[in-house]
Amino acid sequence: MNVPILPTISTLFIVISAIFVGFGWYQIMRGNRQTHEKLMLWGAFFALAFFLVYASRTIFSGNTSFGGPEELKLAYHLFLFFHILLATAAAVFGIITLLHAFNKRFAKHKKLGRWTAVIWLLTAPTGVVVYVLLYVLYPGGATKPMIDAILGT
Ligand code: HEM
Repeated sequence: MNVPILPTISTLFIVISAIFVGFGWYQIMRGNRQTHEKLMLWGAFFALAFFLVYASRTIFSGNTSFGGPEELKLAYHLFLFFHILLATAAAVFGIITLLHAFNKRFAKHKKLGRWTAVIWLLTAPTGVVVYVLLYVLYPGGATKPMIDAILGT
C-alpha cells in the first residue's frame, strides 16, 4: 500500500486526539479532575497538531481530489462536506470549552464540553473514512487547490 506520509500522519493525529478526549471524558465521569485536565490538554494538542499538518499541506501543495469511480463522487463529496462541518464545529466548540475551563466557568464548560467531545468523537471516524476513500481504497487523484478538491470541480 502506497499512502502519502503527511495525510497519514494528520489522520493518525485526529485518532490519537479522539482517544485522549474519550479517556478524558471517562476520567471526569469518575471525578478525576486532574487526569481529565491532562488528557483533554493532550487531546487539544494533537487536534492542533492535526490542524497544523493539514493546513501546511493545503497551503504548500493543495488538496487531493477523489480518485475513485465517477458514480461514487457525489457521495464522497457529501461525506467530505459533513466531515469538514463536524471538524470546524469541534474546533470552534473546543476553543470555547477550553476558555470556559481556564476561566473556571465549569457549569458552562460541562454543558458545552459534552457537545465538543461528542462532535470530536464523530469527526475522527469520519476523517478515517475520508482517508480510506481518498488514499487506501482508490489511488489519490491529482492535487488541486483546496476549494476544487472539496467541491469536486
Ligand atoms: C477541549 C477540551 C475539553 C473537553 C472536550 C472537556 C469536556 C468535558 C466534559 C464532557 C465534561 C462533563 C463530563 C460529564 O459530566 O459528562 C467536563 C467537565 C469538567 N471539566 Fe472538562 N473538558 C476539556 C478540558 C478541560 C480542562 C483543560 C479542564 C481544567 C482546567 C477541565 C476541567 C473540567 C472540570 C473541573 C469538570 C467538572 C465540571 C463539573 O462537574 O461541574 N476540562 N469536561
